[in-house]
Amino acid sequence: MMVNKGAHCLLTYVAFVLALSLASASDPSPLQDFCVAVNDSTSALFVNGKFCRDPNLVTANDFFFQGLNIPGNTSNPLGSKVTPVNVVQIPGLNTLGISLVRIDFVPYGLNPPHTHPRATEILFVLEGTLYVGFVTSNNPDNKALNNRLITKKLNPGDVFVFPEGLIHFQFNVGQTNAVAFSGLSSQNPGVITIANAVFGSNPAIDPDVLTKAFQVETNIINYLQAQFWYDNN
Ligand SMILES: *[C@@H]1O[C@H](CO)[C@@H](O)[C@H](O)[C@H]1NC(C)=O
Ligand SMILES: *[C@@H]1O[C@H](CO)[C@@H](O)[C@H](O)[C@H]1NC(C)=O
Repeated sequence: MMVNKGAHCLLTYVAFVLALSLASASDPSPLQDFCVAVNDSTSALFVNGKFCRDPNLVTANDFFFQGLNIPGNTSNPLGSKVTPVNVVQIPGLNTLGISLVRIDFVPYGLNPPHTHPRATEILFVLEGTLYVGFVTSNNPDNKALNNRLITKKLNPGDVFVFPEGLIHFQFNVGQTNAVAFSGLSSQNPGVITIANAVFGSNPAIDPDVLTKAFQVETNIINYLQAQFWYDNN
């Protein structure tokens, strides 16, 4: 079929814009072996999520991170610390749809309820005893699945999965420090800590909104909004 040149150009442009917008909306299937991220667009070659380093200039260090043997600093109100290893730490993870964290806990340390908007998490316990869980989403059509809490007590060697987007937590219920490592199905999983987002947003959510949402007195909301919500990430 013959297509006039103008229409063909427009179609190509629309396809290109569509491809670009799709590539930045999720972790796309890579279109080449790798696409090491660079900040400086003038030294970049291809666009696929982020600008990519010229493959001829890529070195082993673009795929390398050192120091995950070092415990995170757990001297904080939560008694836990997440140490991320994602595309920020390893630019070679760009477009590859995977990343890693180390999580340290003191006894009774908590990684508080949070979600990863872009990733499923698979957690491995190296040391300690963790009580972990997630809550299923609202499910008006199936009452049995509506906000169901699914929990497990984990020991060294145990592995547990937190499905993408669901609220989950990990709590050290043992007498010793705990250490866990998690793989996440995104180069940039994102974190939304529930209490921080709801009660510690900047600027604050109108207390009338939260009073209605939580069905409590305004002074309780005022109290919660006045707290310092520590971010352990
Ligand atoms: C990009 O810039 C950020 C912020 O300045 C920096 O932390 C990061 O290491 C840079 N990444 C690369 C690949 O240069
Ligand atoms: C750990 O964090 C606390 C609180 O911010 C700080 O006082 C302490 O110096 C840190 N420890 C190390 C080893 O960095």
